[in-house]
Amino acid sequence: MTVSERIEQLKTEALSAVATGVSTADLEDIRVRFLGRSAELTEIKKSIGTLSPEERKEVGRSSNLASREIEAALGARTEEVAAREQEERLRAEAVDVTLPGVPSQRGHLHPSQIVIDDVVDFFVGLGYRVAEGPEVETDYYNFTALNIPEHHPARGEHDTFFLDEGLVLRTHTSPVQIRTMLSQEPPVFVVCPGRTYRNDNDPTHTPMFHQIEGLAVDRGLTLAHLKGTLAAMARHVFGEDAEVRLRPGYFQFTEPSVELDISCFVCGGTDPNCKVCKGAGWLEMLGAGMVDPSVLEEVGYDPEEYTGFAFGMGPDRMAMVKYGVPDLRLFFEGDLRFLRQF
Ligand code: PHE
Repeated sequence: MTVSERIEQLKTEALSAVATGVSTADLEDIRVRFLGRSAELTEIKKSIGTLSPEERKEVGRSSNLASREIEAALGARTEEVAAREQEERLRAEAVDVTLPGVPSQRGHLHPSQIVIDDVVDFFVGLGYRVAEGPEVETDYYNFTALNIPEHHPARGEHDTFFLDEGLVLRTHTSPVQIRTMLSQEPPVFVVCPGRTYRNDNDPTHTPMFHQIEGLAVDRGLTLAHLKGTLAAMARHVFGEDAEVRLRPGYFQFTEPSVELDISCFVCGGTDPNCKVCKGAGWLEMLGAGMVDPSVLEEVGYDPEEYTGFAFGMGPDRMAMVKYGVPDLRLFFEGDLRFLRQF
């Protein structure tokens, strides 16, 4: 076989390989195999110098022609294959904008927080300021300044969690009253929501629970202002038909002290089998009273000039009643099946 015949053969082989190449990667392999640095055709071109002058001309011409023809076939075929590959990729990666989206999970407020926000909103609307205090409290703010001296039996009722060095987990939000009065002059109008702690655990008590304290101190405030304020709050939280009644109560730091009941907003006192009020017609809602003059004295307010009222309520209990939840502990177990219901 002459060199020219071999060139012809290589060209035919290359062209048929190109015709069957199905991917750009295939075609690149074919290019290397037939036109690469160590391809046979390349070797032939390199050896042209060793041939006789007539052969040199003929072989030079036909090898160049063969190269160009293979090159052209490769180019055309590559274009075709690349276009198809691109089309396939686009089809595979296509986004169907008509498909429905994945709904994003939206959180929501805890039932206690719903009640807290509602109560706080009401008082802010009346011009009250929101005040907060520490959950780790000193014995002084939690008890002594509230007219509960050391060794007084009233301390025993609080089931206090004692920490080191005269510190306690606050058993109520009332210490915020003291902190507020010590930091400003009257008039004072504040609401103080926050976490409180008592060593208690049953269906209606959890070791951590919430309270919202309220405190108003000004000239001429009376029990009538207290009752009117809380009646308006009850209507705001439980509906326009809600009524309140006061019963005598006892707290060390208020005098007189009252407990406030709200008319059952489910049956209004008409259903002896009512699940919410158990037929009583009334629900216990909070403790309150006129700030004891000795507390005013303790913070440097003149009890001859100023009077005040204070109240403390349990928003968790209120949420239990409002949403008909039988066990307070459910509120703080973090079970999503429970929480998602609100
Ligand atoms: N701090 C009292 C309690 O936790 C509630 C209360 C607050 C009573 C303010 C009167 C005035 O029981």
